[in-house]
Amino acid sequence: MTAINALKPLIRTIPDYPKPGIQFRDITPLLANGDAFYQVIEHFAERYQDKGLTKIVGIEARGFIFATALAYRLKLGFVPLRKPGKLPAKTRQQSYDLEYGTDALELHDDALTATDNVLLIDDLLATGGTLIAAHKLLSDTGARIHECAFLITLNDLPGGQKLDENGIGYYTLFEF
Ligand code: PRP
Ligand code: ADE
Repeated sequence: MTAINALKPLIRTIPDYPKPGIQFRDITPLLANGDAFYQVIEHFAERYQDKGLTKIVGIEARGFIFATALAYRLKLGFVPLRKPGKLPAKTRQQSYDLEYGTDALELHDDALTATDNVLLIDDLLATGGTLIAAHKLLSDTGARIHECAFLITLNDLPGGQKLDENGIGYYTLFEF
C-alpha cells in the first residue's frame, strides 16, 4: 500500500471559500480517486479493527462519507449526527461555533447506550467546535468514545489544542 502521505496532494485548496480569508481544503479530488478513497478507508480499518467497537458515528455531511464506508468495511452499525430538524424521532441537541458561522448537531435519543464503544469520525478538524459538540452529545449517552478520527487537521486553528485540553483523544491522517 502506498504511504498514506502520498495522497495528501489530492486535497485541493480553494482560497477565499466560503468567505474571504478561509483556505478551504477540498476533499472531492481524493474522493473521486477510487484507489485513494479505498486506501484511506483501509488505513482507518487497519487502525480500528479488533478494538471492540460497536458503532461508527459520523458528522453530517462530509463525516458521513468516511463513517459509512468504514462502518461497512468493519461490519459495524453507523450512527448519524445530523444538522437540526433532520432526525425524525426524539433527539438531543448541542449547538456550536464554526470557522464561518454557527450550527447545531442532533443525535437520536435511543441511538447509543452506555454499553456502546464508538469511533467518532469527521472529515476535518478546524476550530474544534463541531467535534466538542459531537463529543458532548455522545458522552451524555454514557457510551465509551474510543477515539475521534479525521482526514484533515488544520494546525493554524485551535481544534487540536482544544481537544488536548479536554482530554479528547484523536487521530488524523493529514495536517495543513
Ligand atoms: C465542516 C467539517 C467539519 C467542521 C469542522 O463541516 O466537515 O464538520 O466544519 O469545523 P470546526 O472544527 O471549526 O467545527 P460543515 O459544517 O461545513 O458541514 P458539511 O460537512 O455539511 O460541509
Ligand atoms: N470546515 C471548516 N473549516 C474548513 C476548511 N478550512 N476547509 C474545509 N472544510 C472546513
